[in-house]
Amino acid sequence: MPEVAQSHIGIVGLGYVGLPLAVEFSKKFSTTGFDLKEQRIAELKEGIDVTREVNKQELQQAGNLRFTSDIDDLADCNVFIIAVPTPIDANKRPDLRPLEGASHTVGQALKKGDVVIYESTVYPGATEEVCVPILEEVSGLTFNQDFFAGYSPERINPGDHEHRLPTIVKVTSGSTPEIADFVNNLYGTIITAGTFKASCIKVAEADQKEAERLYGVTMIENLPVNHYDGVVYDVKHSLPKDVADGCL
Ligand SMILES: NC(=O)c1ccc[n+]([C@@H]2O[C@H](COP(=O)([O-])OP(=O)(O)OC[C@H]3O[C@@H](n4cnc5c(N)ncnc54)[C@H](O)[C@@H]3O)[C@@H](O)[C@H]2O)c1
Repeated sequence: MPEVAQSHIGIVGLGYVGLPLAVEFSKKFSTTGFDLKEQRIAELKEGIDVTREVNKQELQQAGNLRFTSDIDDLADCNVFIIAVPTPIDANKRPDLRPLEGASHTVGQALKKGDVVIYESTVYPGATEEVCVPILEEVSGLTFNQDFFAGYSPERINPGDHEHRLPTIVKVTSGSTPEIADFVNNLYGTIITAGTFKASCIKVAEADQKEAERLYGVTMIENLPVNHYDGVVYDVKHSLPKDVADGCL
């Protein structure tokens, strides 16, 4: 695990969620923003954000932030944050293909000691059951021995320029107690409203406020088999009341 101060952050997916994160982290750390869409990268290099979450001046001032669609440019990152879309299909099931693709991309850049943090809205269990195996397979590294994972749900409201990323409390989590501290401290460098360290990744994933707001469903409701009773209990007892109330 890197020291927080030694973090070189790679953000994968530069949409409504990923771009503001990249801009904020670049104020503290060397940051690389990666997106598959070359047009998006070309626009960002020109200082244009079509989502209007970040203005031209903020982009121009982000001197520590470089934009790329070349996987090789992620090679010197040691902390990866994945913020790709998780659309739902006609049956209101999450489509995890972008997340799987992004995990495949990061797997190619992963080195011993690196940390991969997911921000995409998912059902509890998806990070460790779907994404981590891809990271292991592509990198050839062993989870929680060679590399680590975290999850931090995003709670921004696009278009709300009053409550922005740093001023909304952020739930964090990690795959070991030490990584949970690392992830929490890392976000603590940019979130002025404060962070809340959840007891484990599944509990942080169970913060379903975003799924409800974005899709009108919680992803827990749409699991084929609901085997998350323990998580439901844990969420209610481990997250702050305002977060837990929105969870389930
Ligand atoms: N928009 C919101 O208000 C909001 C709020 C909270 C959480 N979320 C969650 O955050 C995640 C991201 O949402 P968003 O609104 O930022 O999405 P978005 O569609 O605005 O942006 C996603 C970006 O990821 C890129 N991308 C897709 N697949 C990729 C891949 N394999 N590698 C690299 N880049 C890839 C796309 O080109 C796009 O630029 C979703 O899971 C969403 O549910 C969104």
